[in-house]
Amino acid sequence: MQFIDLITQKNRIRTSLMQRIEAIVDHGQYIMGPEVAELELQLAAYVGTRHCVSCSSGTDALLMPLMAMGVGPGDAVLTTPFTFVATAEVISLVGATPVFVEVLPGTFNIDPDLVGPAVEEAKRKGLNPKAIIPVDLFGLPADYARLESVAASHGLWILEDAAQGFGGTINGRRAGSFGLVGATSFFPAKPLGCYGDGGAIFTDDDELDRLLRSVRVHGQGDGDDKYQNVRIGINGRLDSIQAAVVLEKLAIFDDELVERQRVADAYAGRLKGRVEVPGVPSGYTSCWAQYSVLAASTDEREKIMGALRNEGIPSVIYYRIPLHLQKAYEGLGYKKGDFPLSEDFSARIFSLPMHPYLKEKEIDRICEVIVKS
Ligand SMILES: Cc1ncc(COP(=O)(O)O)c(C=O)c1O
Repeated sequence: MQFIDLITQKNRIRTSLMQRIEAIVDHGQYIMGPEVAELELQLAAYVGTRHCVSCSSGTDALLMPLMAMGVGPGDAVLTTPFTFVATAEVISLVGATPVFVEVLPGTFNIDPDLVGPAVEEAKRKGLNPKAIIPVDLFGLPADYARLESVAASHGLWILEDAAQGFGGTINGRRAGSFGLVGATSFFPAKPLGCYGDGGAIFTDDDELDRLLRSVRVHGQGDGDDKYQNVRIGINGRLDSIQAAVVLEKLAIFDDELVERQRVADAYAGRLKGRVEVPGVPSGYTSCWAQYSVLAASTDEREKIMGALRNEGIPSVIYYRIPLHLQKAYEGLGYKKGDFPLSEDFSARIFSLPMHPYLKEKEIDRICEVIVKS
């Protein structure tokens, strides 16, 4: 059994995708070709923002807005310790300091009520709080209604980490569109992935869009001379073949979201009582990038994952070590006990196979093994 089945999906899009790839091989515009412009238009329309800037990965999609907004040494950027390392890594890469904020029980997303105290903590450390990076963990958007008001009251801007959230919604508004700017990833295992690395940035801000396009190509200027560099940038471009893959997958994405919801509903109905199943607040939808459940204890988790393994069913732990306890972040001075909820979730969480092509029979088998373990 696959944890994520990309082969069935590939069979579904293969003919049209191969036509697109052949066209690219023939037209020869391998980097930032016409497929990239077409994808940016379609993605902006899908997410509902004025602009979409595609880029080389989800990590660069987070890094580039920080660079464009001039975040740097002496600045603090708030985020959660219960996320993939890239969320905090980009803060360090621009020379700023991550300040962690505990997550909420139930959603695993940043707790808006704890942003204020974290701003004060950052100031006490002599830092200048600039921005918040909420993460739409496992596919569920963070609480942007409350985050936007708390951010405004502290003069912070929001960079939405929608690497896992793309496809999720709040009252019909799509992930990627929250805050000043949103970032997503097209890593192959993401709900909307490509066949390599890729990402995209979304914003309604015309000036930020202009800066992001410059940062994406080594800080090049607006003029005709592409070797005129007016700021420090990166090589953050998306290539045409990856854009073609995302275009083909976007065409079936809404249908796949329905199938992901089918799988999530089946899991929730059958697993409730044996493990804690994830909740989705009213008005929200998740794109179910991961279906993550909580065992009663670490030992229980080992027992259940062991039973699954014995039956050839894959399961994975996201995330075993919260970021404040990672060696790379020793220098920030956090210690065990600083974020008890994140630490508790890290000790008990595990994720089950989740993809649109999971069959009822497979779901039955997975649930049966868990319930009987
Ligand atoms: C929450 C989160 N942020 C950022 C990233 C980075 O994306 P990428 O792997 O495309 O650089 C990922 C995915 O791996 C992620 O899950």
